Amino acid sequence: MSVHSEIKKITTETLRKMKFDKEKITMLTAYDFTTAKMVDAGGVDSILIGDSAANVMAGHETTLPITLDQMIYHTQCVVRGVERALVVADLPFGTYQSNPEKALESAVRMMKEGGAHAIKIEGGKEIEESIRKIVNAGIPVCGHLGLTPQSIYQFGTYKVRAKEDAEAEKLIADCKLLEELGCFAVVLEKIPAALAKKASESISIPTIGIGAGPDCDGQVLVYHDMVGMNQGFSPKFLRRYLDLYSEITGAVSQYVKDVKSSDFPNDKESY
Ligand code: KIV
Repeated sequence: MSVHSEIKKITTETLRKMKFDKEKITMLTAYDFTTAKMVDAGGVDSILIGDSAANVMAGHETTLPITLDQMIYHTQCVVRGVERALVVADLPFGTYQSNPEKALESAVRMMKEGGAHAIKIEGGKEIEESIRKIVNAGIPVCGHLGLTPQSIYQFGTYKVRAKEDAEAEKLIADCKLLEELGCFAVVLEKIPAALAKKASESISIPTIGIGAGPDCDGQVLVYHDMVGMNQGFSPKFLRRYLDLYSEITGAVSQYVKDVKSSDFPNDKESY
């Protein structure tokens, strides 16, 4: 018998069961091997290679510029660091909206080359046929509704979505459609808590919220935001667990002082 205990991998089925058992689901983003290893070791249920990589890794203002090749590279790095969590990768802007064939091709590349366990795409009714095609190919799909950042130029603002009845009704209808199409979960971003509660109660697949209140079946945050690396970003929904920006700049400035003063390296740090 092996002395190593088997790690029980999280699957889409595990997430479904967690909703059924009323156990909250945890998801965080990661974009590289080292971070993915730490996030996985911390016990998160799912790791998202979000297209927020465009913002936090590449410094773009929006998520639009990141390419499928770049997302595949980030996904490959993350997958190598993960033993337990379900790895979900975003399909970036322009790789699934135009037609279902292209959507399937993009999803297949993400699974085959990236090594993702599932993909996430933004939108409801508008991308129905793309979702159907991807799900029919046996690829697990996570939906994303509410403030969908790939549509930022249509929204014109990062404010809370679906405060008005028409948009709220469409969101509930889209949630039901995503469930019907076979999505395994849906991310709800920046919508009123009461609407997220209603959406979560209307479907049997898990909802994973970001700025969507406490009644979603799970929560997701961008790693760089929750560890306080992203100093300028302080939305109401964000809880910071560390102040890594200060910690890291402090460590760097100490290193600069130590080298300039010839304190580093000392005898013990030399061969
Ligand atoms: O790209 C991303 O990080 C996301 C999360 C904010 C849900 O889509």
